[in-house]
Amino acid sequence: MRVADSQEYLQALLDAIRPGTDEVLAFYDHRVGVIGTDAKLMLMPWDDHLVHRGDGVFESLKFEGRKLYQLDAHIRRMKISCQAIHLEPPCSWGELAEAIVEVARAGNEPNGLVRVLLGRGPGGFGLDPYESPVQSMYVVAYRMHKRPEAAFEKGVSAMRTSIPAKQSWMATVKTTNYLPNVLMKREAVNNRVDFPFCYDDNGFLAEGATENVALVDDAGRLVIPEFTNALAGTTLMRAVDLVKGDMPIIFKGVTEDEVYTAREVMMVGTSFDAIGVVRYNNKPIFDARPGPVTKKIRALLQADLLKSGLVFYANERNHAPGSFHSRNGRAGRFCFQGGSMDTLVCHCFGYTRGDIERDALAHGRSTILEGIVAEKAAGGCQCAVKNPTGR
Ligand SMILES: Cc1ncc(COP(=O)(O)O)c(C=O)c1O
Repeated sequence: MRVADSQEYLQALLDAIRPGTDEVLAFYDHRVGVIGTDAKLMLMPWDDHLVHRGDGVFESLKFEGRKLYQLDAHIRRMKISCQAIHLEPPCSWGELAEAIVEVARAGNEPNGLVRVLLGRGPGGFGLDPYESPVQSMYVVAYRMHKRPEAAFEKGVSAMRTSIPAKQSWMATVKTTNYLPNVLMKREAVNNRVDFPFCYDDNGFLAEGATENVALVDDAGRLVIPEFTNALAGTTLMRAVDLVKGDMPIIFKGVTEDEVYTAREVMMVGTSFDAIGVVRYNNKPIFDARPGPVTKKIRALLQADLLKSGLVFYANERNHAPGSFHSRNGRAGRFCFQGGSMDTLVCHCFGYTRGDIERDALAHGRSTILEGIVAEKAAGGCQCAVKNPTGR
């Protein structure tokens, strides 16, 4: 083998085979500080402890119709994961949120998924986390392959996996140690089953490979396996919020017998919201059709995304963007609107009360307001004309 110089190596790298490039829409490596779209350049340093020790955490969130779903909830969970492994992002949480929005927007597709990875960072091949001077942050937007509508009508299958649920302290944190999850998924695929269910040491149902499970029992209650050996899903917790006035909900240890005798069994997770499990270990669940509660939860989650998803625009020229500066001093741009508090505050730039509150929470001051004030001073704000109340 020859030893190449940098230029030759770079060329060879670009020529190397790289499956999956069609899936990648845009990506951001915090060290680099700019967004890329050529997936061949989406590479991680081998000596990032995230890569060779699994010393990192992650989140996956989706956007549909250029609306990011549950950004706040994912960031909240990521903070918890970070605390559990004594990690901090290399920038503020506000900047991390903005990077997610920016990368999703740069992907230039209305629908997709965003993966955020926070790692201990490059620095060596040891174990000692203090070997890495600066944490790493990688954000990628990639294509989402939605299940066909027929799958939601027909329902899916599930099986008990031979892989035990992770220990509580690992299962409740979204770390990059997903080997058990991978093996569960592999087992299901090899058995031509859609989803694997894992159980904890006490024989209680924990979760799927990357989804939560919920049941509807004979009494019509939504039964959720306690999150003792499972990740608290952002989707399931949002579903709980959305149905809590309509039906009794209980969190409890769930045995395999309860799965067999449930009225409904559903998988709940970011990419598909909720889908009915109609066969478990080759046996039908109730009438082997997706049930009404599953369908209702899916519809509520879909409506919720439309109502509360964080809007990002495809074309920056049509909507004046804000800007952010990462800690390495490089500037990024963002433009967003929406959120649960969707009263428009600035009619020129489309900012809502919720945007400004989130921005203030994330930054300790409102960078949006500062931007609007600066634009106003430069004569760029026409809220007095555009806002019917003349604000
Ligand atoms: C192990 C595990 N359980 C449950 C979930 C569901 O969480 P969410 O609803 O936030 O997608 C995930 C998500 O990826 C997961 O990895």
